[in-house]
Amino acid sequence: MVRHLYVHIPFCPKVCPYCSFYKEASDRNKTQAFLDAILLEADQSGEGLRPETIFFGGGTPTALSTLQLDFLISGLRARLDFSELREFTIEMNPATVSREKAAALLERGVNRVSMGVQSWDDALLKTLGRVHSASQARRSYHILREAGCRNVNLDLIFGVPGQSVALWRESLLRTLELAPDHISAYCLTYEEDTEYFERFRSGEFVPEEARDAEFFEVTMDVLSAAGFEQYEISNHAKPGRECLHNLAYWNGADYAGFGPSAFSTQAGLRRRNIADTAEYIRRIQGGLARHDFEESVPDGLRASEVVAFGLRTKQGISPEGIDPKVVSALTANGYLEASPDRLKLTRKGKLVADAVAAELL
Ligand SMILES: C[S@@+](CC[C@H](N)C(=O)[O-])C[C@H]1O[C@@H](n2cnc3c(N)ncnc32)[C@H](O)[C@@H]1O
Ligand code: SF4
Repeated sequence: MVRHLYVHIPFCPKVCPYCSFYKEASDRNKTQAFLDAILLEADQSGEGLRPETIFFGGGTPTALSTLQLDFLISGLRARLDFSELREFTIEMNPATVSREKAAALLERGVNRVSMGVQSWDDALLKTLGRVHSASQARRSYHILREAGCRNVNLDLIFGVPGQSVALWRESLLRTLELAPDHISAYCLTYEEDTEYFERFRSGEFVPEEARDAEFFEVTMDVLSAAGFEQYEISNHAKPGRECLHNLAYWNGADYAGFGPSAFSTQAGLRRRNIADTAEYIRRIQGGLARHDFEESVPDGLRASEVVAFGLRTKQGISPEGIDPKVVSALTANGYLEASPDRLKLTRKGKLVADAVAAELL
């Protein structure tokens, strides 16, 4: 039985120059065919799926209208057994929130919202090419709370060109004033096939690792002092507010993924749907294979992923199968905390998590 469902909605009000998620600017002509295709995918592969968690991600799921979201959720409800659903998350861009939409989503069973605020500084939001202002993000947050949403995550980005550490601390403090349940704080990465990557390659943007480490340390200090637990390197939650969907994914649980570019891992096979909305629709309508990638993963995760994902979480990883000499060296240098049955990153190790994981592999 598969217990986790991801649905990828590839539309955004406007494409941000740093983002490499599969998405396109919203196109009214394609939307209904896309929604029909998702429901057809549920018909074709929803058997054996009784979700405990659902995650509508993107893109921007709330780029869909209230009616379209209603159609999609009702359609999924009619096809899948929701009786054991515990967490239903939807990602939102602050520019796509309205009272009507928030109320309809909560009524349909959504019980967690993840909103991309990124920064509370208007100049930085402009640098990031965001479609919303800081005050619009604040208004949207209050709309969600007033509509009765009791579990809200806010996404923030640090290490943005032009952002000082003081400005970042200020963004964290302003986030805390709103009392969200969860905060995801991501270090800006320059992803291939983005405008930011080109600007990085041309030398306009210069990464500053030492400064990124400082941003990271400030994040840990400010959020832990406010009662958030860093249960994964980029994710901080109030007690009991960890994202169950992401935890399942990091722990290697099977999951189904609907929509273009969505991954599924089931019964030792990982597949990815084609990252092209028109082609995804065509293949689903024609009853053709919608995957353009597949690999075998007998235990749900590859050994390298067990280390890479596990090390980023507060539980760490088992030392089984890892060279004890490497563990001793990393422990002696202050990057790892080792007990007989667990290896965990220290604070110093968290600053260079990917490099530590690479050493362990
Ligand atoms: C799918 S978006 C969230 C919802 C919505 N699309 C929005 O942007 O408001 C997921 C999150 O990934 C983060 N993100 C995207 N590209 C990133 C990058 N290159 N570096 C760091 N974080 C990034 C942003 O914080 C963003 O909120
Ligand atoms: S950050 Fe969010 S709104 Fe911006 S392009 Fe990516 S998915 Fe779309």
